[in-house]
Amino acid sequence: MKPKDIVKQPHLPVMPSEIINELREVTRGVSHFFDGTFGRGGHSMMVRDEFGDIKVTATDRDLDAVAFANSKFSDLIEQKKIRVIHSVFSNQEVLSEFQEPPVFDAGLLDLGVSSPQLDEAGRGFSFYNSGPLDMRMDQSQELTAADIVNTWDAQDLSDLFYQYGEIKFPNKVVRAIINDREEKPFVTTEDLSGLIERVDGWRKKSKHPATSYFLALRLMVNKELEVLKEALPEIIKMLKHEGRLLVLTFHSLEDRIVKQFMKGAPELGRMVYKKVIKPTEEELKINPRSRSAKLRVFERLID
Ligand SMILES: C[S@@+](CC[C@H](N)C(=O)[O-])C[C@H]1O[C@@H](n2cnc3c(N)ncnc32)[C@H](O)[C@@H]1O
Repeated sequence: MKPKDIVKQPHLPVMPSEIINELREVTRGVSHFFDGTFGRGGHSMMVRDEFGDIKVTATDRDLDAVAFANSKFSDLIEQKKIRVIHSVFSNQEVLSEFQEPPVFDAGLLDLGVSSPQLDEAGRGFSFYNSGPLDMRMDQSQELTAADIVNTWDAQDLSDLFYQYGEIKFPNKVVRAIINDREEKPFVTTEDLSGLIERVDGWRKKSKHPATSYFLALRLMVNKELEVLKEALPEIIKMLKHEGRLLVLTFHSLEDRIVKQFMKGAPELGRMVYKKVIKPTEEELKINPRSRSAKLRVFERLID
C-alpha cells in the first residue's frame, strides 16, 4: 500500500512565507545567513531571493547534499557567497569559527530528512522503498539501523521503541525481531516493515504500522535528539544581537526539546512567540510533507 502523498516529488521548502516573514523582522536585515540543514538548498536560495546577493554558510551531514551543492552552486561557492560544510550542526570545531564575534544575522534548522533521502531506496529511510536497513544521514558513520536491530538485546530495543517511537507496547514486535534474527539477520527495510505489518497489523489506515519504529531507529542511528540539544545554545552564540534562529520540527520529541530550550535560555535571548507557527491549509494541499511541521523562533539578545 502506498498513500497518494508519498509519491516522489522534489523537495519543496517547508513554510516559505512564514520563514521569510520572520526574517524580515530582523532589525539589521539579513546579510549573512546560517543554514544548519542545507539539503538541496531550497531555503537558502529562497532567503537569497528575498534579501539579495547575501552570504550563506551552511552545514549538512549528508555527503550527497554537499556534493549536490558543490556541483549545482559551484559559481556561488567560487564567489564565496555560499559555503557548505560537511558536518553535523553541533560540531563545536565548526561553530566556534563563527561565535567570537558572532557573525550571523539569522539561522535556520529544518530538521529531519530531505525528500531525496527518503526517496532514495539505497539510504534505507523509508519502508515504502525496499533498500538496505541503513538510515545514516552521514554515510561516513559506522552505526546503521541494521546493526541496532540485529545486535541490541530485547530490553534495549523495547526502551528505544518506547522512548523514541512513543510506542506503548513494543514487546510483541521486539520478541518477533529477536526470534526471526536468529534464523536470518535483518538486511532490508522490507525485512523489518514486513515483520511489523505481520505482528502489529494496520491499526490506522493513514499510518503504516512501521512508521514509529522507523522513526525511533532513525533518531537513534543519527543521535538526532542529542545533537539538537547540544547544538541549540551554540548556534545561538553565532548570532548577532537581535539575530533570529528559526527551527522547523516534524515530531513532538524534537519540538519539546526546542520549546524547553527557547523558554529556558534568558541569558541568550527570548522565545519570540509562545505558540508554534504551523503551515496553512493551502500549503498542506501542495506540500503534504509539511503536515507535521512546527516553526519556533528565538531572538538573540546580547547585553
Ligand atoms: C529537511 S532537509 C533540509 C532541506 C532544506 N531546508 C531545503 O530546503 O532543501 C534536512 C537536511 O538536513 C540534514 N541534517 C539533518 N540533521 C542534521 C544535523 N544534525 N547536522 C547537519 N545536517 C543535518 C539532512 O542530511 C538533510 O539533508
